[in-house]
Amino acid sequence: MGNTVYLKLNWLSIFFIFLLFVIGGLVRSTGSGMGCPDWPKCFGEYVPPISESALPADYEDFFKEQRIQKTARFVSILKKIGLDEKAAEIENHSSLNESHQFNVLKAYVEYINRLWGAVTGLIVFGCFALSLPYLRTNKKVFFYTGLGFVLVFLNALLGAVVVNSNLIGGIVTAHFIAAFASICFFIVARHFAQPFPSTHLTVGQKRMTFFLMLVIAVQVILGAELRELYDVLSNGLHFGEKTSALAPTFQYHGLLGLLTSVIAIYQLIKIPNTYPSIQYIKWIAMLSVAQLVFGPMALLPETASISKLFHISFGAAIFVLQFYICTAFISTSKSER
Ligand code: HEM
Repeated sequence: MGNTVYLKLNWLSIFFIFLLFVIGGLVRSTGSGMGCPDWPKCFGEYVPPISESALPADYEDFFKEQRIQKTARFVSILKKIGLDEKAAEIENHSSLNESHQFNVLKAYVEYINRLWGAVTGLIVFGCFALSLPYLRTNKKVFFYTGLGFVLVFLNALLGAVVVNSNLIGGIVTAHFIAAFASICFFIVARHFAQPFPSTHLTVGQKRMTFFLMLVIAVQVILGAELRELYDVLSNGLHFGEKTSALAPTFQYHGLLGLLTSVIAIYQLIKIPNTYPSIQYIKWIAMLSVAQLVFGPMALLPETASISKLFHISFGAAIFVLQFYICTAFISTSKSER
């Protein structure tokens, strides 16, 4: 009974964290990252207003000032722990002095993002609470659930910093990687609570799936780096000018994307059709090929927002599914615990 409820909440935790990527894509594609200039409230309210007329006349200056003060506190913490370079980068970032005009669509997209984040927090806390009884019977379930929970919690704090520092790169990427890591911990915890179905694969086949996992992980980190470079690029450039300005990260990311698709198709051919997770293996191959289309679309003004919506969600899905397949190989037998 306890195990069933834990497994349900564990699944919900994975689902809710994953959808944060999808909603994150929506936030980016609609340019709503600064839809709420403050945190955790939105324009000083728990439910954002639906019209600018509900806000005081000087609201833009007020929220800008508030953000500058919060960032100053954050910068002093960074200095205290020796991160002087990062502190100076944040302090001198020009976007820190930007004010943000109210836009109802952007405010509500960002608000949904936060609500989803809050519900996710409650679910992962519930899952962590239900992992406590495993301390006596199966410590690894408790340990990995705990790591997943702590990362989600730290990521929520990082979310506040993302807003207070006005979406400065590096912090956004850390936020992104922590979300991937938390999902991984919940998947591993789930496997220890109820081992994933897996039939015998040869050593060569297993090596191939691990190698693909590694390529995907590097690809996601390169993608995050590319996104940081792209975010500070001026808007008026043509496709060719953008690819040159983003060199060599764009070229490496594109080539690695091609390699990912080739290995994902090879994996599909090599792993027998009777393998329990064959559906996931098919999805990995299909989504990887789709990324070859959605990736370059990010650089064209007409298709950039569609790409931003799908490229990150597909990238996250490929990572999570391949991680699931690799996790099934981890032995859960008592003799090895
Ligand atoms: C399996 C293949 C691929 C994966 C898993 C992947 C993954 C990612 C991820 C996770 C990001 C960061 C997105 C964000 O933070 O919003 C990204 C960004 C990006 N990727 Fe890929 N990618 C793949 C293939 C490609 C290909 C083939 C190209 C182009 C030739 C490409 C072009 C881009 C561009 C231009 C960005 C920056 C977009 C932006 O800032 O919105 N990607 N990728």
